[in-house]
Amino acid sequence: MIPDIISAIRAAEQTALDDISGATTLDDVVALRTRLSGKKGELAGLKKRLGSIESIDDKKAAGQAVNEAMAAVDTALDARRAELHAHALAERVEAERIDLTEYVRPSSRGHAHLVTQAWERLEDVFVGMGFRVAEGPEVETDWHNFEALNMPIGHPARGEWDTLFVDHVPPGGQPGTTVLRTHTSPVQIRTMLDEEPPIYIIAPGRVFRRDTPDATHMPVFHQIEGLVIDRGITMADLAGTIEVFTQAYFGPGFHSRLRPSYFPFTEPSAEFDIQRPNGEWIELGGSGMVHPNVLRAGGLDPEVWSGFAFGFGIDRMAKERHGIEDLREMYADDIRFIEQF
Ligand code: DAH
Repeated sequence: MIPDIISAIRAAEQTALDDISGATTLDDVVALRTRLSGKKGELAGLKKRLGSIESIDDKKAAGQAVNEAMAAVDTALDARRAELHAHALAERVEAERIDLTEYVRPSSRGHAHLVTQAWERLEDVFVGMGFRVAEGPEVETDWHNFEALNMPIGHPARGEWDTLFVDHVPPGGQPGTTVLRTHTSPVQIRTMLDEEPPIYIIAPGRVFRRDTPDATHMPVFHQIEGLVIDRGITMADLAGTIEVFTQAYFGPGFHSRLRPSYFPFTEPSAEFDIQRPNGEWIELGGSGMVHPNVLRAGGLDPEVWSGFAFGFGIDRMAKERHGIEDLREMYADDIRFIEQF
């Protein structure tokens, strides 16, 4: 009788395990659990029959077999439920998945304009050298654009900048004193008035001049200004900065030189050129030691502070770099041109 009941238990367990692995839905598992582990289940029935076994040892052996079988069935039910649950979840995730990628034809994907590219690269190089980016307004006062830069009213150098005036009279101000900034140099004044030295800034931005567009001039273009104010700054710092910048921006085969020149806001003043590896020189911009009058206009004592400044055209840089013949092409809005850079 004992071997009989034990093999009946083993057989019932095996059938239960087969049924469980055949379950394909969570509902199947719930139904199986009711059937297999409930009071009316086959194993429960066999357990009831244990009472009729006479030998204590036999009873113990059979009882152990039934308990093991019931535990195995429970474990199998739990495992199958977990499996089906994970499967159902994966199916749901797949079914509810939303494709957030949009197909963009490579030819229709845009990119930054070549002047913006140059602007951003210039910022990267100067920021890498320890400069900070400063800004100023495009509509300026005559005072910031000229007077504070050592060009009082009537100064002949004002004629160098063909100025566009804005028809706006500031409260308490004079007519004809609001201009579209002709250069980024007024940002020097604004920064000196706003901040305590030491100052190490660059100011890229849009500037305006009353010019007829031609191959090398545009009435709206871009400049980048640099200003350093600290104690004991000399012309050597200017030359070193320009040289480090030249190699970082154009490449190690490039060099720079300063050439004596004149600007009202610097003394001494210099133009700076860069030399291509093939020996050819290109004029790039203006620079010099900040004039004491400019320091004073910026609220600084020239006995304590000294500095250098420089400025050059961003559009020209892009033009030189890509060998563009005519500046006007950069702004003609012709996608076939823009796409090439
Ligand atoms: N502002 C000058 C221009 O528009 C360029 C320039 C020259 C800027 C010398 C400077 C400088 O800061 O020191 O032509």
